[in-house]
Amino acid sequence: MSSKTPRQYSTPNPPRRTNTTGSDCGPADRSLISRRGGPILGAALMGAVLVVPSAHAMEEDDAAEYTITADPSESGADIADTMYGIFLEDINFAGDGGLYPERVQNRSFEFGPVDNEDYHPLTGWSEESVGAAGGSVEVVDNEGRLNENNRQYAELRLEGDGAGPDAGFGLVNSGFFDGMAVEEGAEFEVSVWARTDQEDGNDLSFALRSSGSGELLADEAVLTVEEGEWTQYSTTITTHTAADDGELAVIAGGSGTVALDMVSLYPEDTFNGHANGLRPDIARTIAGLDPDFLRFPGGCLVNTGSHEAYEEPDWERGRSFQWKDTVGPVEERPTNANWWGYNQSYGLGYFEYFQFAQDLGATPIPVVPALVTGCGQDDVTDDEELLNRHIQDTLDLVEFANGPADSEWGSVRAQMGHPEPFGLTHVQVGNEEPLGEEFFEHFLEFKEALEAEHPEITVVGNSGPASGGDNFDRLWELNDEAGVDLVDEHYYEEAEWFLANHHRYDGYDREGPNVFLGEYGSWGNTFHNALAEAAYLTGLERNADIVELVAYAPLLAHEEGTQWEPDLIWFDNSHVWGSANYEVSRLFSTQTGDSVVPTEATLPGGADEELFRQVVTRDTQNGDLIVKVVNVHEDEAVTHLELGEEVESGATATVTTLQGDPKAVNTRDDRPIQPEETVFEGVDDTFEYTFPGHSVTFLRVPTV
Ligand code: AHR
Repeated sequence: MSSKTPRQYSTPNPPRRTNTTGSDCGPADRSLISRRGGPILGAALMGAVLVVPSAHAMEEDDAAEYTITADPSESGADIADTMYGIFLEDINFAGDGGLYPERVQNRSFEFGPVDNEDYHPLTGWSEESVGAAGGSVEVVDNEGRLNENNRQYAELRLEGDGAGPDAGFGLVNSGFFDGMAVEEGAEFEVSVWARTDQEDGNDLSFALRSSGSGELLADEAVLTVEEGEWTQYSTTITTHTAADDGELAVIAGGSGTVALDMVSLYPEDTFNGHANGLRPDIARTIAGLDPDFLRFPGGCLVNTGSHEAYEEPDWERGRSFQWKDTVGPVEERPTNANWWGYNQSYGLGYFEYFQFAQDLGATPIPVVPALVTGCGQDDVTDDEELLNRHIQDTLDLVEFANGPADSEWGSVRAQMGHPEPFGLTHVQVGNEEPLGEEFFEHFLEFKEALEAEHPEITVVGNSGPASGGDNFDRLWELNDEAGVDLVDEHYYEEAEWFLANHHRYDGYDREGPNVFLGEYGSWGNTFHNALAEAAYLTGLERNADIVELVAYAPLLAHEEGTQWEPDLIWFDNSHVWGSANYEVSRLFSTQTGDSVVPTEATLPGGADEELFRQVVTRDTQNGDLIVKVVNVHEDEAVTHLELGEEVESGATATVTTLQGDPKAVNTRDDRPIQPEETVFEGVDDTFEYTFPGHSVTFLRVPTV
């Protein structure tokens, strides 16, 4: 930065042709199965410190090297109120083992090699004999099953010898990863579907204990299983001791055969108190983003696998995510092989997704399979009958979400406890199909059927799995020709790509479809990655007339179960923490503004335009201007701001700063990247502010 010759650029920039190519994020990414090492520890996510930096009075300082000049009397793009949202896919144990807080792994004994080559029907379970009693266990798949969708169950064959109050035989579940995490004083519902062949029944005891010490974490609960039909038994236990290595022992006394299915240990404390609800700490961290939309459930979960139903003769277990599998009583939801290499219980199903969207105040955007796979499978299912079944399923989905409580599918929603409609407005058909032409033929059939019956629904298309290339260009062309409103783009790129492609959307055709950036992320969770993403987001906001929705991906990762990193929010069985990228996303999504104020910036010679990005937006609720500056340079940027006469002279600006070592990574034990809240008292129609090196700064400047 030795030369003082300013270089100038302005916002919005003159249109130019974009569609920069980038790497494909499909199949290759599946091999990115890496584990994040490093320390573990929880962090308070919302902590803020108030400090008052010294103001620079304009007259005193000739050293301003950068300028940002805004003209608040001019208006730039309006920012859609859907701008920042989330994409929630059950990858990295985001759902089962994460947001879905069932502590028992493999509660329905359905696990198998189809899910993961290491799985079998007793994954998560071990046998245990108490006292002199013995027995054996077998997972069976026969006519005695709980229901057609829940095909396997465990039979405990009890050898009565030695049975008595302190004797029995049963199974112990070890939970997910290191064991069940429980806090002291927490209530759990213990439940099981069971039956016995014994006229006098069998006692079934439930002991939640530490796997390490064997110490009971709650008083043992005992239920009596009666002879005859499958019956659900349940009781509540309250923990008196906290642990993160819990296990649940389910021990039957007496003799005979006791059948078990859907063995569950479910916390009473869920997000917003819903039954079958979500893990509150993870849900709250997501809510901290104040997302405007919730795209779900995939991702590769949607455009991979077979599109057949779970039915005879095949009882297909590698299915694409089909919404009807995931609603109704949990014991009737057929589990599935999750594309990311584990089993999906579907306890977190469409109803729970819609309910979560409602809790978050977010627009739900479900994605349905278009019968063209991607993510490395890249295949087309040419079966008109099956395609029509899926099209009908999509129409039924609209009814499930929005139909009257006495309609066929609306009544399913009502029975699940939500007679009011969920207010579905968007449906995305297909995820990111690399076979663009073939996908689009199917897409058009869905679109036509949806528009005929539900013209109120926006049908979202996509441009494939990459930021550019032939498939991308062709899909944009096809979407444009078909008058699609929103095209979902996905790309995962290096930080440098995000820095260099700030102007990507400047040249997009304003007459064509708008952009739904449904999945983006730079390859890393360092602060440098987050800075690059922040710089990029300023470019998206400048282009908010065409970029309507934006979501980072993937959203969630269990530290011990990742298939993909980086990720936005990390957790383990007891803690959750936001990445540096989360802090950037949170800043942009909670302080968005409603419209862009056109600005012009100048940089000193030697400064790199890619490393100093800014955008100014207006918050019409209170008139504030939100000056958003990303300084990726190591050096501070002494900046002369001219925001116009509208600025309230002498007013105090609130400042939120993210600053740190570009190599810094937030972990469970250490969160070096977190927002610092300050105030700045030198506001005038022109004033100076020093943006630290390696920082993202949001200045909220009051206007008169
Ligand atoms: O976000 C991870 C994966 O990336 C998604 O499942 C898929 O849509 C994309 O390839």
